[in-house]
Amino acid sequence: MNQVHVTICVGTACYVLGGAELLGAIDELNHSYGGRVSCEGSPCLGLCKLGRENRAPFAKVNGRLIEAVTVESLKKAVEEALSEGGNG
Ligand code: FES
Repeated sequence: MNQVHVTICVGTACYVLGGAELLGAIDELNHSYGGRVSCEGSPCLGLCKLGRENRAPFAKVNGRLIEAVTVESLKKAVEEALSEGGNG
């Protein structure tokens, strides 16, 4: 079964634009999918300093960057990663 690892930026810009809510959502996803979703908060990924602050918050799902993350888009990305083969 696939494992999915999620990194959520919890730097200031991302945190205030929803990063905290995303961390909570991952907890719920992990429960829903039997512990197959791991998550870590990351210091600023540096993207907000590259003129992309309007695309915050940022997250990575198995290393794939997602911009302007919402609970819904994060859930969709995690479910897609869980359904992909070849990651364990
Ligand atoms: S705070 Fe998230 S990329 Fe900088």
